[in-house]
Amino acid sequence: MSNSSHYQGLIERYRDRLPVTDKTPVVSLNEGDTPLIKLVNIPEQIGTSVEMYVKFDGQNPTGSFKDRGMTMAVSKAAEKGAKAIVCASTGNTSAAAAAYAARAGMTAFVLIPEGKIPMGKLAQAIAHGAVVLQIRGNFDDGMRLVKEVAGEAPVEIVNSVNPYRLQGQKTGAFEIVEALGRAPDYHCIPVGNAGNISGYWIGYSEACGHNTASCTLCNGECPYLENPLTTTRPIMVGYQASGAAPFLRGHPVEQPETLATAIRIGNPQSWNLAKAAVEESGGWFDEVTDQEILDTQSLLASKEGIFCEPASAVSVCGALRDIRSGKIPDGSLITCTVTGHGLKDTATAIEGRDPVQTVDAELASVKDAILRHL
Ligand code: F0G
Repeated sequence: MSNSSHYQGLIERYRDRLPVTDKTPVVSLNEGDTPLIKLVNIPEQIGTSVEMYVKFDGQNPTGSFKDRGMTMAVSKAAEKGAKAIVCASTGNTSAAAAAYAARAGMTAFVLIPEGKIPMGKLAQAIAHGAVVLQIRGNFDDGMRLVKEVAGEAPVEIVNSVNPYRLQGQKTGAFEIVEALGRAPDYHCIPVGNAGNISGYWIGYSEACGHNTASCTLCNGECPYLENPLTTTRPIMVGYQASGAAPFLRGHPVEQPETLATAIRIGNPQSWNLAKAAVEESGGWFDEVTDQEILDTQSLLASKEGIFCEPASAVSVCGALRDIRSGKIPDGSLITCTVTGHGLKDTATAIEGRDPVQTVDAELASVKDAILRHL
């Protein structure tokens, strides 16, 4: 049975704007089409008149934005006849690579930093049957090794150095412009390896008909060149964790450290593209501390019902600070990419809390406990 209105993932949705052909075997888990959720309680609480939306990409099939790029990278690998893919990862890329490889009948090799990825992400890679190589080193070491090994073994790299990844990730911007009917004034985003900010900038640029230098794959054939969706592009703001903030330091960081393990990265691969996105848009990079990240993660969960992982709270965290200081002015329309789901890393979310009360299995005890909280 086929139903033409059945959503079939972002390659089918944006087929005419992506570097695919009839010969590309589409490997999809119906990723994309994620909710753009308006924040209602937090802006009121801080007394601002900004309009603020969260693009909750944690609602993708494997729980993070990586699925957008992975459907493209694995489909193109399948088109080439690849039997195996490889990536370095702080957890989410490995989960997505493992799932899409399973779907495509390929082997996924994933290099993860020893002891530094949360159990939820590791469980995904294992469940989907990836070969998990835990390296005695960090993400940046893994990235170097992946690039080296791809020259020596028949494996396709599916990190964002693979340009098809950014092509998939640009669709987040398309969806936002379609949902709002215009581009936002500001787009705020966490920055780790710097692929996603670069992908969004390609997407926003194409949506308004700019033929960007960074879009090397569309060869000027993107339909938005003829029929733009909008006339403006947002100011791009990239936030990093203070212990892993190479864009703030102006050079790679040797020993990146942050509890937002997804962005524990010192040597971002898409450095030039990310820097160009921020400069061309008139935006900026800034950093947030681990404590600010945890506070914002908790704020989003407890005030808005949005449970994200620590790295994902970074966009909202930085945006709120810049709204409070007036750097992002009142009246602005702001979107924040929230990149991964909170269920990925439950340990960090409840650490240091005393969340559970044990009561007797009797009406009196349960009633007492309820009334104490009202
Ligand atoms: N947020 C989350 C939840 C991530 O997993 C990542 C990157 C980022 C933000 C940063 O995005 O790298 O495009 O700047 N995670 C990669 C991984 C590195 O291996 O899963 P970026």
